[in-house]
Amino acid sequence: MLIEAKKIFKSFGVGKSKVDALRGIDLYVGEKSFLAIMGKSGCGKTTLINVLATLISPDSGEYYFDGVLINSCDENKKAELKRRQLSVIFQQYNLIDELNVKNNIILPLVFDKKQFDQSYLERIVSDLGIEDVLKKFPAELSGGEKQRVAIARALLITPKVILADEPTGNLDHENAGKVMELLRNCVNIYGSTVIMVTHDIDMASYADQILRMSDGGIDGVR
Ligand SMILES: Nc1ncnc2c1ncn2[C@@H]1O[C@H](COP(=O)(O)OP(=O)(O)OP(=O)(O)O)[C@@H](O)[C@H]1O
Ligand SMILES: [Mg+2]
Repeated sequence: MLIEAKKIFKSFGVGKSKVDALRGIDLYVGEKSFLAIMGKSGCGKTTLINVLATLISPDSGEYYFDGVLINSCDENKKAELKRRQLSVIFQQYNLIDELNVKNNIILPLVFDKKQFDQSYLERIVSDLGIEDVLKKFPAELSGGEKQRVAIARALLITPKVILADEPTGNLDHENAGKVMELLRNCVNIYGSTVIMVTHDIDMASYADQILRMSDGGIDGVR
């Protein structure tokens, strides 16, 4: 299994204000699969994505990424994982203000001194409709454009796993559909696995399976 999460617990706060965000999550996701996560606001979706992205450590439970126990990895190992094998797409885009759009997109590969596939870059950029903003800086972009730039950056490294937290939250229906087709292609053509949080059943329908969460637990997968 590419992703194995066993009995993951995570709480925030203490005493009366303690919130049990994840209450013993068991999640197994194989290669080349597309999983959508749905559930009410506050049920723990982002917390789960953050654990899978190695951005927060669970209070207990084990998380294996491609056979490696993440709980015992140091920050260097986690950073390397995120640069090469695991892309995260957030609602807040984490673009570098000082770099133009193109340099933002290729940054993970430049950082790794890796060549990038120019034709794949052109294809992603054209599918996302951001070819005209490549020379602009993040401050000159709309929210939806920033979101698409962040998606382009996440896809260009052809990661093993793409984690996306409401990746189409700021997009109109047409652009949202294009993003979904791109994510679908990442699975079908590049063999990535996608785990995506969404509130939109139309977007979830691009996935192979829909996992429903409530109150820090998994209700079922279908
Ligand atoms: N850093 C934090 N400190 C304290 N409480 C937190 C923190 N992060 C999340 N929580 C709480 O944990 C619970 C789960 O939050 P989470 O962000 O995972 O929900 P979500 O399912 O992503 O909701 P939404 O659909 O609104 O994005 C919520 O009750 C939230 O208030
Ligand atoms: Mg959330």
